[in-house]
Amino acid sequence: MAEVVVVESEARAGELAAGSILDLIAAKPDAVLGLATGSTPLPVYRALAEGVRSRGIDVSSLRGFALDEYVGLPAGHPESYRSVIAREVVQPLGLDPHRIHVPNGALETISDAGEQYELAIERAGGVDVQILGIGTDGHIGFNEPGSSFASATRVKTLTAQTRRDNARFFDSPDDVPMHCITQGLGTILRARHLLLLAFGGGKADAVASAVEGPISASSPGTAIQLHPHATVIVDEAAAGRLQNLDYYRYAWNNKPRWQGL
Ligand code: F6R
Repeated sequence: MAEVVVVESEARAGELAAGSILDLIAAKPDAVLGLATGSTPLPVYRALAEGVRSRGIDVSSLRGFALDEYVGLPAGHPESYRSVIAREVVQPLGLDPHRIHVPNGALETISDAGEQYELAIERAGGVDVQILGIGTDGHIGFNEPGSSFASATRVKTLTAQTRRDNARFFDSPDDVPMHCITQGLGTILRARHLLLLAFGGGKADAVASAVEGPISASSPGTAIQLHPHATVIVDEAAAGRLQNLDYYRYAWNNKPRWQGL
């Protein structure tokens, strides 16, 4: 079962997740981070940047792999995940850009971009901690409903719901690309620790399904139930549909602090 931690604010969620990641980096300076984009991980990246500064942590060897990328956006498009990762993660944390990888969404090389990305993750020794958000339709990465639990990095078609949800980042909903390249559910499950965050009532159904629903490819977030070390950090609104909420609070309140996340 995933550990569920309910927090009072997005900022607190960011601090909690960042604290665990900073401890990892302190112990393993060349740790490999799995990087989500979108709105959800921003408090984590803010708290990480702050922690790196205040704790004086050396991040020069830190490595990272983004979860996904849109296919076919022009190079340098501000909403390409390559640009977003540079702006939200690489620059504020002062990371070496050569150590941070994003799937290649260029059309010319898309046919083997997934395989190349899997190889790069494998050569890096795998992902130590994978930061995840969750879509309102239950996707993690861009693994839309129906994605195989064994899937590797590959091209997927975004659902109409995901394109609508992401329209806020573009001038018009039609500008949201139809296709993406995403780490598969199999790729995500190979990461050593999953840290899934979700905020707001719009995510409550997706969170309840991922944590407590029957395991099904129709609800890709349920893949986390197959992972031996998955942590779900949610605010009260995103926790609103969880059946066993009282138990999660009780378990967290009684958790030995030395265990960390
Ligand atoms: C982003 C990603 C997606 C998002 C999800 C939620 O790299 O893989 O799964 O985490 O679409 O997006 P936000 O956080 O914008 O609500």
